[in-house]
Amino acid sequence: MVDPVVVAVDGPAAAGKGTLARRLARELGLPYLDTGLLYRAVARRVLLAGGLPTDPAAAEAAARGLDAADLERGDLRGPEVDQGASQVAAQPEVRAALLDFQRDFAARQGGVMDGRDIGTVVCPDARVKLFVTASPEARARRRWLERAGRGEMVVLEEVAAEMALRDARDAARDVAPMRPAGDALLLDTTELDAEAAFREAWTLVQARLSV
Ligand code: CDP
Ligand code: CDP
Repeated sequence: MVDPVVVAVDGPAAAGKGTLARRLARELGLPYLDTGLLYRAVARRVLLAGGLPTDPAAAEAAARGLDAADLERGDLRGPEVDQGASQVAAQPEVRAALLDFQRDFAARQGGVMDGRDIGTVVCPDARVKLFVTASPEARARRRWLERAGRGEMVVLEEVAAEMALRDARDAARDVAPMRPAGDALLLDTTELDAEAAFREAWTLVQARLSV
């Protein structure tokens, strides 16, 4: 049996991973999984229970108790959950608790998965690995525009500072740090809108899938 196609889309915050991964999934007819939502949902559970995302026992319990309904909630995108997600994500027990779900998803029918460690840890044998980046300024501006568009009162410099903190934590952690896999294709979207980024990615994906 041929292994299902997995496309890994990793990279820092607001690089355009989700936008690109959703489009690739649609064009390839594959399911899509936003793995960041898993860590966000764990953080949210901890915060709702009155715990601290940095507390390993609270974070592990939340990760083990995660269910589908947690992922469908609409309040997973605020600044507190952003930071909490990267704090729970630095803990080995949390990552271990979420690993089987992600691997089962990939093994069942393949898919396009976006996150930080898909190409390095979750699916090291993925057929295609993209590492999507953009300048810190471009990424902060995108996230700021999204939040302002939702009517939130947000300051660009604050968005940039919180993003830099989160990226640094994600890159520096001991377990599954954010970094490109050795065989990842790099895509810098600083000067590309979502359509142009998709077209560049599509050329790369086709080249890998036709080998
Ligand atoms: O998933 P990730 O955090 O990497 O980023 P995203 O949610 O896909 O994109 C963040 C924001 O940047 C969204 O509002 C996108 O529409 C926008 N974007 C962009 O301006 N240019 C791109 N090449 C990709 C996304
Ligand atoms: O959308 P954005 O890129 O801002 O964040 P996200 O993809 O929703 O991820 C939120 C946080 O979850 C990240 O800052 C990481 O700490 C963590 N994460 C991770 O460690 N591994 C993944 N595969 C996905 C997310």
